[in-house]
Amino acid sequence: MAEAVSLSISDNIAVVTIDSPPVNAMAQNVRAGLKQAFTDLKGRKDVKAVVIGCKGRTFVAGADIGEFDTGIAAPGYHEVLGLIEDCAFPVVAAVHGTALGGGMEITLASHYRVAHEAARFGLPELTLGIIPGAGGTQRLPRLIPLEAAIDLMLSSKPMPAAKAQELGLVDAVVTGDIIEGGIAFARELAARGAAPRRTRDQAVRGAENAAELFAAKRAQVAKTMRNRQSPLALLDAVEGAVKLPFDEGLKAESAISDKLVPATEARALRHLFFADREVRRIPGLAANVKARPVTRVGIVGAGTMGGGISMCYANAGVPVTLLDAKQEALDRGMATIRKNYERSVSRGSLKQEQLEQRMQLITPTLDYAALGSADLVIEAVFENMALKKEIFAKLDKVVRKGAIIGTNTSTLDIDEIAAVTGRPEDVVGLHFFSPANVMQLLEIVHAKRTSPDVLVTALETAKQIKKTGVVAKVCYGFIGNRMMDPYAREAEHCLLEGATPEQVDGALQNFGMAMGILAVFDMAGVDIGYLTRLERKHLLPDDPSFYRPDTMLNERGWLGQKAGRGYYRYDSARKRTPDPEVIELLWEEGKRLGIERRQPGEQEILERCLYSMINEGARLLEEGIALRASDIDVVYTSGYGFPRYRGGPMFYADSVGLKKIYDRILEFRSTLDPQYWTPAPLLEKLALAGSSFAAWQAGRKN
Ligand code: 3HC
Repeated sequence: MAEAVSLSISDNIAVVTIDSPPVNAMAQNVRAGLKQAFTDLKGRKDVKAVVIGCKGRTFVAGADIGEFDTGIAAPGYHEVLGLIEDCAFPVVAAVHGTALGGGMEITLASHYRVAHEAARFGLPELTLGIIPGAGGTQRLPRLIPLEAAIDLMLSSKPMPAAKAQELGLVDAVVTGDIIEGGIAFARELAARGAAPRRTRDQAVRGAENAAELFAAKRAQVAKTMRNRQSPLALLDAVEGAVKLPFDEGLKAESAISDKLVPATEARALRHLFFADREVRRIPGLAANVKARPVTRVGIVGAGTMGGGISMCYANAGVPVTLLDAKQEALDRGMATIRKNYERSVSRGSLKQEQLEQRMQLITPTLDYAALGSADLVIEAVFENMALKKEIFAKLDKVVRKGAIIGTNTSTLDIDEIAAVTGRPEDVVGLHFFSPANVMQLLEIVHAKRTSPDVLVTALETAKQIKKTGVVAKVCYGFIGNRMMDPYAREAEHCLLEGATPEQVDGALQNFGMAMGILAVFDMAGVDIGYLTRLERKHLLPDDPSFYRPDTMLNERGWLGQKAGRGYYRYDSARKRTPDPEVIELLWEEGKRLGIERRQPGEQEILERCLYSMINEGARLLEEGIALRASDIDVVYTSGYGFPRYRGGPMFYADSVGLKKIYDRILEFRSTLDPQYWTPAPLLEKLALAGSSFAAWQAGRKN
């Protein structure tokens, strides 16, 4: 028997134990082990019931995701789950941790389910662009009501044991050792001579108004999960459970699943599953480099950023000392933090007592000496080199030896900031995104002198506050904002050429961006980019049309939502409508600048924005600012609203084909301003060789 699965029998109860770290994924060896165990159990006279349980931190967390790219080796899922369901003795799944995907499907093929009180059950396949393909779409609605089953699968969110029991999925919730709990339950079944209770023999629950229900869910999906094929395919599969006999429903599910697995959507989402985890690995870093503990944090600056970062740590239970230069700013900052938490309380996502606990973890201060005991101090004041240097010099005096000093700068040279301290090796960039307590991404900036253990600590602290930390080297804008620069430049230029803000944003949103860039600027404040450009005026291209729309809005004080108008007009509820005055103003300006009125269409807008960004991404790779193409994809999907189902800009580039992008860039070089349309050497090399960013990345690993 494969060693990932073992079978033991004691007092007429068989225990099948899966032990395949880290998460007991249902890889080929686990499937083979289960097949062997349930084959061995056939015809046993000394067995009255069977328990399936797992060693380690969790029940089976699903299929082995990597196997979808290499092909599923025998034995297949259906064969193994069929053996479990066919078992002549009652089979009890004993679940701790998370039973996800294929793991959940094992529990559905079992006859009974016992859960640890902290266990959770979920079918998150849509997050991977696929559907439950091992009977989940057919068995779940036979155990819990149809609508609840659909919602569980559409949401991809696992449900807690108590909810699963309430819905009828779980037969018993236990505390203490889960295997013992499963055995005790199995003994009771054996004592009362209970027979197997096969899910496939049960009728779908709550299917009376199935036609209306499916119509409503399809309409919901069309609206909320645009551009995706797996959610509608999921509904088709579940409808099969209602309309077809079990075996045929299972076949229909397989046929649908087989089509989805190799499709771009699923490949993109698998790519991101691994990319999100790959970011933690820093090439060349010795394995014995340990993170420094972070148990107390200091934050300098009680504005929006500093407040948001304080909340991140308070949410993680870490005490925070929040410093500002003025009492008034501190009071305002603390009041904003409380208001944010109150909003969570009123939405029901936080309890009042948790609000109080979190507020108590944040201590306001005006005194730098109060930061003396912090393990990590993060400076989060506004972008001004002189001010940051002044603060770092002060911090250098008070912060204890061995503590880490981070800066939240989004544009400034961290090497220059670090140089004012006597310990540049303890300085690192920690670039949070606004609102810091909500946004997933944390860019970790590896300055020239940052020591390896400081880098590892930065990655660990990202995890501590449930963020995705991605390492970048120092350059203007790091990964995210540097690539955003050409993207937004093209978006704005299209306005001067006769496109409207709605057309530009519409093209980006139809592609799947969470928001159009012009609406983003209005939301963040049109002055933000303008002010940073003013600071770097001497470095900008000699081009009067460069970000001209932004400049014009700034000159008029039309700074976006906060001013009631920017690229759009806003009413008191911040609902936006087109602003004919702005449209006309920018077209006139285009004319004045001698720009041809070419009214770029949706496809051109998209190509210009995305291809210029991808080209910049290729430069970041060449320069070593980004470690991997997949890191760029993580930055964009976790911090910039790039649609996950397209895999991030570099994956998307590969899926379009680098040669096609390269050729289009050459076309733009001849029809648009050539200074912006030189293909990056890496892009050129890969395109002409018929290669891809993925292949380039894989080649560097070897
Ligand atoms: N397949 C392959 N590897 C997996 C995996 C899986 N299903 N789940 C986790 N891993 C790997 C991770 O890549 C990571 O590897 P690394 O250490 O080398 O980077 C390691 O296991 C630990 O994972 P995490 O870092 O994510 O650990 P956490 O403790 O933070 O989270 C978890 C654990 C909640 C189980 C999380 O890993 C998770 O959500 N996994 C994916 C679950 C999932 O999507 N399952 C459905 C798969 S599709 C399916 O089952 C199809 C079916 O219908 C046939």
